[in-house]
Order: sequence, then C-alpha cells, then structure tokens
Amino acid sequence: MAQTMTQVHNSIPVITLDGPGGVGKGTISALLAAELNWHYLDSGALYRLTGLACVQNGIALDSSEEVALHAENLAVKFLPLGGILLDEQEVEALIRTEMAGNNASKVAAIPQVRDALFKRQKAFLQLPGLIADGRDMGTTIFPDALLKVFLTASAAERAKRRYKQLIEKGNNVKLADLIVEIQERDERDMNRSASPLKAAKDAHIIDTSDLTIDEVFQKVMLLYKNL
Ligand code: C5P
Repeated sequence: MAQTMTQVHNSIPVITLDGPGGVGKGTISALLAAELNWHYLDSGALYRLTGLACVQNGIALDSSEEVALHAENLAVKFLPLGGILLDEQEVEALIRTEMAGNNASKVAAIPQVRDALFKRQKAFLQLPGLIADGRDMGTTIFPDALLKVFLTASAAERAKRRYKQLIEKGNNVKLADLIVEIQERDERDMNRSASPLKAAKDAHIIDTSDLTIDEVFQKVMLLYKNL
C-alpha cells in the first residue's frame, strides 16, 4: 500500500541538537551532517534573518504582527556551498553578530513568529536524514526525533568560546560584555512562554564545559550508533 506523506516523514531520521547560545551546537551539527551526509537545519538562522529583515525594513522588533509577517515572507536561500541570501543579498556575516543574535531572541519570543517559521523548519525534513539545531527542535518541531541531544556549558565557558570565534572573525568585542549578553539571552530564551529553551524529557544531556569539539562529536555519534 502507498505510504502517506506523514508516514514518509515519520520514517526520515532526525537528530536534534538543542541548547543555549555559544554551546557549540552549530559546529557539532555541521560535523554530524557531513559525517552522515544528512541535511542540516540551522533554525537560529531563521530567527536571525527575521530580525535582520525587520531592522532593514524599519519594523520595531516588538510589533508582533508585522514581525510575524516578515517571518512568514522571508525570501531566503541557504546556498549549498555556504552563504545565505536574503532578498538576493548575501547576509551571512550580518546575521552572525551578537546584535543579530540578540534581535533574534527578541523576535523569537513572539508566538506568531514561531508559528510562521514552523512549516519552513518542517520543510527541511528530507531523506536521507536531518540534523536539526536550535532551542526547541526536540520539544516542539521534531518531537518524534530518532535521537535528541541537549548540550550545556556554563555561561562563562560559552562566552569564552564566542569571544574566540568573534575575535578570529575580526570582530572587536569584550569578554565581559559577552558574558552579560549571553546571560541576558539565556534568560529571555528560557523564560518566554512560547517554546522556551529546555531539554526534551527524552533528550541526552551532555555538559560540554570540559570537552573538546571532537569529544562532543564522538559522544553524539556513539549515541547514534547505539540506538
Ligand atoms: O542559535 P542562534 O544563536 O543562532 O539563535 C539565535 C536566537 O534565536 C536564540 O537566542 C533564540 O532566541 C532564537 N532561537 C529560537 N529557537 C530556535 C533557534 C533559535 O528561539 N529553534
């Protein structure tokens, strides 16, 4: 008998990686996607792009309906070899700043924005599989995921990692400012009513504070192989 679309979707494997900012989800997700040759959803980028589209069009980040409309109509292309186009303009560098992260966390607290981005995130579910990186991948977007991982690390450790990343990219930032920004963003992400940042009940929690990237990657691969 022919499979329904829902059955097909349920049979596509998903590994979710959730956790706070600066914990290394992006790096680990990219490694997993390359290793397994699966698709990759960087859901944070969608919130960052929504924030950017609003800033560029002069929309206040707390005007729920207008922000949701921009989320719904994002003209975005993730380029296969890297790079992100918004309205045909390359915006990868623009969305990776701390300011863009903070703006993303403001628009992400608006329930209508989360609803507007729901289908777009689901559309990344394609064979042979998906690595989904975000805050609510295991709780809200892919609750039936094959494997759910929640990464943690202290705010100080995450700020140090972010600092290194930003300095390497030539940004001029202060570590003390980054710690404050990371704590503010955590606070907002954990305390919002719509899909707050939290581990799914069936997620494997990995504290990455004292682990290298490769050690975290190996741990997730082991969880996957032992399924
Ligand atoms: O992961 P990234 O730092 O790019 O995310 C930016 C912001 O987008 C987060 O601080 C969070 O507020 C929001 N976000 C979210 N849900 C996701 C991914 C990101 O609310 N699934």
